Amino acid sequence: MNNLIDIMTKAKIPFAADAKSKWSLLPLRISIFLVMVVFLVIGIVGFSFQKGLEMITVYAPLINADTEIKLNVSVAHMWVEEILAGDTTKKVDYVWKALDNADKNAWAMLKGGENAGQAIIPLKDVEIQNIVKKVIQELTEFRAIAESRLSHRETSLTGSPIDYRYDKVYSAFTKNADQIKYRLTELIATDLQYFKATQYILMVVCLIIFVVAGIALYRFEYFRNRAVLALHQSNENLEMEVEEHINTENRLIESKEQLRNLGHQLQTVREEEKAHIAREVHDELGQTLTALKMELGCLNHDLQSTSDETRSRISGMNALIDNTIQSVQRIATELRPQILDVLGLAEAVRWETSEFQKRTGIDCELHLPSSDIELSREIKITVFRIFQETMTNIARHSGANKVRVDLQMDRKQAILKILDNGRGIVASEIFNKNSLGLLGIRERVHFLDGQFDITGNSSDGTQVRVTIPLESHANIK
Ligand SMILES: Nc1ncnc2c1ncn2[C@@H]1O[C@H](COP(=O)(O)OP(=O)(O)OP(=O)(O)O)[C@@H](O)[C@H]1O
Ligand SMILES: [Mg+2]
Repeated sequence: MNNLIDIMTKAKIPFAADAKSKWSLLPLRISIFLVMVVFLVIGIVGFSFQKGLEMITVYAPLINADTEIKLNVSVAHMWVEEILAGDTTKKVDYVWKALDNADKNAWAMLKGGENAGQAIIPLKDVEIQNIVKKVIQELTEFRAIAESRLSHRETSLTGSPIDYRYDKVYSAFTKNADQIKYRLTELIATDLQYFKATQYILMVVCLIIFVVAGIALYRFEYFRNRAVLALHQSNENLEMEVEEHINTENRLIESKEQLRNLGHQLQTVREEEKAHIAREVHDELGQTLTALKMELGCLNHDLQSTSDETRSRISGMNALIDNTIQSVQRIATELRPQILDVLGLAEAVRWETSEFQKRTGIDCELHLPSSDIELSREIKITVFRIFQETMTNIARHSGANKVRVDLQMDRKQAILKILDNGRGIVASEIFNKNSLGLLGIRERVHFLDGQFDITGNSSDGTQVRVTIPLESHANIK
């Protein structure tokens, strides 16, 4: 029964856990969802940041370099004109410095370099690379013309052919420098478009992920609820089953107890019936037979003169009556040994042992307590009947030629030990359901809260041990 209760208790655990987990899981799911959102936001921001940084670090220095080139060449162009016009404040060295600077920036755009602390990353776009190369050529040409004009000032005044070439190279250079700027702006615009498109795609992906996550969460919740419901249902069924089992078990225990009581009742009734019959047989039949014997004695006396034949028939009748009286006494004793009621358990065991020895020829060694304790009728008859059944079993099954009987009694308990030197009982015989003799012993002992053991082996024979507690005063007369 305890096992069943255990099962039931364990089976109930998911219910309690269920309600808790429903709520304890919710924050977890929200947390997972939030973590996902945070990661996505970080991803988008990171991507934007990275792209923005790329534009700043790549395009800004290039545009600056282009502006610098244009500015330096414009300054150089203007100063050459002013020096030629006779402005002595302007120095030729500055012109070459400005051109050097423009040249340096142009090469930096192609090969990489630095401008005012900003790193210039080399251009990847071939079209701009080609324009920059043109600009470098034009710069070289512009420098050569400027040098020639400044060294031959008298032939290179405004309106001279060299002046004309000077302006032409300069205007071609300006156009190309503008072209570079324009092309760079175009590249920025394209990159921006890519950037935007990527961001839109990212946003759509995020949206899809949210929707998918939402659906997954919903489905998870749905299936979880279904599983919880199923669990709930099966738990209820299990509970009902367990309850049914417990009820059946209780009913079984009850009916077993009732059967035991019935068995005991039957034993008692049987014993009483036997005692009654024994009394009737002994008193009625015994006395009638004794009277008949006496009458026959008188008749024998009265018929002194009759023939020998008649007298011998009368003495034959007399012997027959003697035998019948003995039979009646034996039957009455077997039904209920008077000795048990009159002299007690120990004497009844002694008498039954000597009868057994006479009947079977098996040698018996008897050990009885020195002083007899007065026991209740029930205990006396129980121990005596167990003794009788055990001795009968020895005679019927053991093949022994020696038996040792031990009866010990004190105020606490009565112990009966019977040992034989026969073949020894085996386990299958001890637990055989069809063995009613041993079952009867067990039932009788159980009713008195006693203990019954029977063991055996081929070398030592069989040992029976019965212990009956006498603690309760009800057991002692
Ligand atoms: N002293 C013994 N030595 C060897 N075998 C024994 C001994 N006592 C009992 N047995 C074995 O145990 C079995 C069960 O004994 P039990 O008294 O229950 O039944 P039974 O004597 O066969 O029949 P009954 O119901 O008439 O008593 C016997 O059949 C016998 O085989
Ligand atoms: Mg038997």
